[in-house]
Amino acid sequence: MPIVRDPSGLLRLGGVSLAEVVDRLGTPTYAYDVDAMAAGARELEASFEGTPHLVAYAVKANSAGGVVRALAAAGCGADVVSGAELRVALACGISPDRVIYNGVAKTDAELDAAIGAGGSGIAAVQVESVEEIARLEARAAAAGRTVRTGIRMNPNVDLRDVTHANIATGHDTAKFGVPRADVGHAVELLNASPHLVFVGIGAHAGSQCTATAKYVESARTVFDVARALRADGKARSLAYVNTGGGFAIDYTGDAPERPRPADFVRAIRAAKREAGLDDLASFVEPGRSLVAQHGLLLARVIQSKVSAAARWLMIDAGMNDLIRPALYQAKHRVVAVEAPSGSAETARWRVVGPVCESSDDFGEHVLPRAAPRTVAILDAGAYGFVMANQYNGRALPVEAFVSDGRIAASTQRRSPESWVAERVGAGA
Ligand SMILES: Cc1ncc(COP(=O)(O)O)c(C=O)c1O
Repeated sequence: MPIVRDPSGLLRLGGVSLAEVVDRLGTPTYAYDVDAMAAGARELEASFEGTPHLVAYAVKANSAGGVVRALAAAGCGADVVSGAELRVALACGISPDRVIYNGVAKTDAELDAAIGAGGSGIAAVQVESVEEIARLEARAAAAGRTVRTGIRMNPNVDLRDVTHANIATGHDTAKFGVPRADVGHAVELLNASPHLVFVGIGAHAGSQCTATAKYVESARTVFDVARALRADGKARSLAYVNTGGGFAIDYTGDAPERPRPADFVRAIRAAKREAGLDDLASFVEPGRSLVAQHGLLLARVIQSKVSAAARWLMIDAGMNDLIRPALYQAKHRVVAVEAPSGSAETARWRVVGPVCESSDDFGEHVLPRAAPRTVAILDAGAYGFVMANQYNGRALPVEAFVSDGRIAASTQRRSPESWVAERVGAGA
């Protein structure tokens, strides 16, 4: 069930009144429609039409157990980028053989955890440099295990013309992935490593990719390399090609023609068929597109300030709760939770948080002229809570999980006292 305004003017998420969420849990609070997330994952799963694949949900986007478990139940595996995320995925019931691990600087302890998971380790440790291979071989030898190893290649596909520079990861000056020119050498090293078996090749060109053509451009680099390696007899155990995550969502609410995740999958399946790689499994690593639009951040209006320059709406959620606007100049829609009872007149409000930084600014929004009591910042289900911090001594936001038309679970708000005690104690 999407986010809708009911006839009485109340905003609802998954059937639950957001005013009720605020009354019960206070603010700032993230609310997630877990059933809608699972439905999106099922739609994506179905787009593979029974062909071998793995939807490895990028846990970094939203690592809440309630979210990870729901996506796992809908068929997802996991893409993790730290030992802690690996533990979350496994503890949420995802089988190790459905987990892949990316990361440019995995510690030995993190490699050991991936190698040691379950009866035979995870689906693939994806190395991101030639240098990582010797380290992985040493850890595998120490554990006495054979490690399924993938290569995350840098496709040298620049997404900076379709997305924000800070989330474009596939151009050749980004720190991510084995440079394309070094992939041959990496494969030779892998094949010469007694405890490593080369099972996959992939790339993730970046996030919030709005164009299937750009995504396919990156996918094709992977397919070309896979085909060439096979032709040279260097990839006999190759089992998958991984085209990464990055499917965009529509943060504006008025771009309904945007491709859906399933459209990206259909496009890469066609390109993969053309490349003659139909026997290999397709891996994708979506994060944002499964969770962003089914989550929002609730905040109370603390006060307004009307000056010659602007009408300011000061809310109790800040860049510490949702950092995307400050980090990526992202614009999230902001709407009133309760429709105004009196005049329907609107005004342009500059919505800002309480943090002592100019970048603590959610941008200008059309809202009721009479300042609303509570607002919802939309499309905040990805890269929201996971990036929250306690800057300025602000407590972390809480999270509410909506399912079956009710608040099925929520987290506890911690009092700022714990932060105060910790800071006072630091250096004592
Ligand atoms: C390697 C990798 N895979 C997948 C993702 C998920 O991207 P998105 O949330 O845009 O789908 C990321 C995001 O940073 C990533 O770094």
